[in-house]
Amino acid sequence: MQKLVINGGKTLRGELKLQGSKNSSLPIMVASLLCGEECVLKNCPELTDIYSASRILNSLGCRCRFSENTAVINSQNISTTEISEKLMLEMRSSIIFMGAVLGRTGECTVSMPGGCELGSRPIDMHLSAMRKMGAEIKEDYGRIICRVPSGRVHGARISLPFPSVGATENIILCAVTADGETVINNSAREPEICDLCSFLRKCGADISGDGESRIVINGRKKLHGCEYRIMPDRIACASYLSMVSATGGELILTDVGVSETEPFISVLEQTGCSIYTYDDRIYLRSGSRLRAVRDRIRTMPHPGFPTDAQALLMSALVTADGTSVFEENIFDCRYRHTDALVKMGADIQVLGKVAVVKGVAKLHGANVEATDLRGGAGMVVAGLSAEGITEISGISHIDRGYEKIEEAVRHLGGEIQRV
Ligand code: UD1
Repeated sequence: MQKLVINGGKTLRGELKLQGSKNSSLPIMVASLLCGEECVLKNCPELTDIYSASRILNSLGCRCRFSENTAVINSQNISTTEISEKLMLEMRSSIIFMGAVLGRTGECTVSMPGGCELGSRPIDMHLSAMRKMGAEIKEDYGRIICRVPSGRVHGARISLPFPSVGATENIILCAVTADGETVINNSAREPEICDLCSFLRKCGADISGDGESRIVINGRKKLHGCEYRIMPDRIACASYLSMVSATGGELILTDVGVSETEPFISVLEQTGCSIYTYDDRIYLRSGSRLRAVRDRIRTMPHPGFPTDAQALLMSALVTADGTSVFEENIFDCRYRHTDALVKMGADIQVLGKVAVVKGVAKLHGANVEATDLRGGAGMVVAGLSAEGITEISGISHIDRGYEKIEEAVRHLGGEIQRV
C-alpha cells in the first residue's frame, strides 16, 4: 500500500495550472454513450475514477482511450446493458450510467454504487425518477434491473425533494433522448451540471434552465458526437488554495473557472488572505497566520459553500487565530478527517452536524489514514503546515480526485514523497 510522506513546515510558493474537473468529466463521459458516434473530451484529468468510468464504457461495448488529458470515446456499438457489481462498486458516479443506458436502450442492470463513505448515500431519488420516466425496476439479490416495456423512456415532470447532483444528472441523461418533455423542479445548480448540459447541447440535445432550479429537456431521437473541453476543477482549486494559505505562501493558479470558485473564495478571504482574480487566474497571498472565520461555515448546495471543500478549509483553519464553526448540511458523516487532525494536535469538537475548531499555534506530524477523498486531501493540507513528518496511508482515496498531487506540491516547494 502506498503512502504520502510529507515533511511539513515549508512555505508553498509558485504558479500552478489547474486540472480539469473530475465531477464534470465523469457525467460527460457517461453522456458520450448517448451520441452513438465519436466524442473527444479535452482537459480530462487522468484519475482512478476516470479510469473506472472508462472501464465501464468499454465493458458496455464502447471504445474509450486516453492520451495527454484527452479522452476519445466511440459509442457506436453497445453490446450489453449490464454493468458488473465489481465495476459499479469502484465509484459513486457509476449510478449515473443507469439514466444513460436506459435512455439509449430502454433497459439496464446495475447495482448499488460504491464511492466515498460519507454516511448513507441512498439512490431513492434516482430510482423514483426513472420510474416516472417509464422504467419498471426490480431488485434481485442486490442487482437493480430496469426495463422500459415500450422500449423508449418518456418525458416526465419530476420534483426533487432535495437538489441532488447525481439525481439531476441521471434524469438529464435519461431525458435527452426520451420521448417528449421532461421538467426537473428543484434541480441541482452545480456548475458541473451546466458543463454536462453544455456538452449535451453541443451533441444536439435540447436543454434549458441549467444553472437554475428548473431544467427543461425536450427529448431528441438522436444525438451526435462532438469535441468538448471539460471545465476546470473548482474543488482541486480550493485544495491548492487551502494548502498554500495554510503554509503562509503565495500562489498563482491558472486555468481556473473563477466564478464557480466564488463561494469558496469569499469565505477564504475572511481568513485575511489577499485574493485577486483576473480572467482565468487566481492570485493568493497569505499572511503569517490565518484568522478564524467569524461567520458559521455552512455547507449548502451550490451556490452555497461546497461540502467538498469543508475538510480542506477546516484543515487550514486548525492553526488559525480564533475559533471557526462548521455546519455540514449535505452528508451525515463527513467529519471523519477530524480524528486525524486531532492526532496532529488540532482542537476540534464535533457535535452532530457542527464542528467547532479552536485554532492552535501549530500542528505536529503524525501517521494518519485517509478514509475519503476530500478528507484525505485535508490531511495533505494539514501535513504541509505541520512541524515534522506526516505519513498518510489510504491514499487510493486521494488518487481518485487529484492528478499528480505530489508533483504539484513539490513544484510549489513542498516536501512530499510517494513511497
Ligand atoms: C456529488 C458529487 C460530490 C459532492 C455532492 C454534493 C460527483 C461525482 N460527486 O455527489 O463530490 O459532494 O455531489 O455536492 O459529482 N440523496 C438522497 N437520495 C438520493 C440521492 C441523494 O437522499 O437518491 C442525498 C445524499 O445522501 C446526500 C444529499 O442527497 O445527503 C446530496 O447528495 P448528491 O447531491 O446526490 O451527491 P452526489 O451526486 O452523490
